[in-house]
Amino acid sequence: MTVHFIGAGPGAPDLITLRGRDLIASCPVCLYAGSLIPEALLAHCPPGAHIVNTAPLSLDEIIAEIRTAHAAGHDVARLHSGDLSVWSAMGEQLRRLRAEGIPFDVTPGVPAVAAAAAALEAELTLPGVAQSLVLTRTSGRATAMPPHETLENFATTRATLAIHLSVHLLDEVVARLTPAYGPDCPVAVVWRASWPDQTVLRATLSSVIAASGGARGRTALILVGPALASEDFDESCLYAGDYDRRFRPNGTAPRFPEAKT
Ligand SMILES: C[S@@+](CC[C@H](N)C(=O)[O-])C[C@H]1O[C@@H](n2cnc3c(N)ncnc32)[C@H](O)[C@@H]1O
Repeated sequence: MTVHFIGAGPGAPDLITLRGRDLIASCPVCLYAGSLIPEALLAHCPPGAHIVNTAPLSLDEIIAEIRTAHAAGHDVARLHSGDLSVWSAMGEQLRRLRAEGIPFDVTPGVPAVAAAAAALEAELTLPGVAQSLVLTRTSGRATAMPPHETLENFATTRATLAIHLSVHLLDEVVARLTPAYGPDCPVAVVWRASWPDQTVLRATLSSVIAASGGARGRTALILVGPALASEDFDESCLYAGDYDRRFRPNGTAPRFPEAKT
């Protein structure tokens, strides 16, 4: 018996890995984390599967479901939205399962930030403009931010920020980032990336509040940084015609003369 933690992707039901889909189909028990998991994914469960929405359950109740499946020898598909490496609450479940000796494995998923970047048709790390992407959030009722992980600190780098769980605090985000990025810094807000009702807003720090027109739901990412609207960036050396590299030796004295692909 194994508990398969599966990243279910950002919303579009075909943005799950083949491995994730096949694991769902092989498990007689499926625990899924609420409304961010599209119903269509549950259609992969085998007939008669025990399917539980864990949104209203406590951690103790979720572990009790897993314990029951373990005692019956039933594999479990445990679905969380996006990828499991960020804001999935997987860590606390794994700690309990380790303590109880219940086997598990982890299958990655497409994170919301990748779906939002795809919606924007944007590369978030443009040469000479931004080479770092910070996935962050603001403090919530359930989770306070560690003291040094402030928006102001991240803003000093001028990297691209992907701010989760914070669209309801857009005014505060703008106020805290404007001193470092400046009012003309590009911003994009992507609501429900990859869902049929996906909405994209492009603006600047000075215009985004008025342009957002108030609340449009909380499932949204705020992306901030010069890379979001830059056409003035360097081309990658990797593909420059005269660049000497392992897979494309070049010039009179290539660094990797014997290199093969
Ligand atoms: C609890 S976190 C889950 C993050 C997820 N594990 C991931 O890999 O993206 C939920 C937050 O992720 C963002 N989010 C999740 N799905 C989204 C989507 N389809 N479009 C935009 N933002 C999304 C929102 O900021 C939302 O408040």
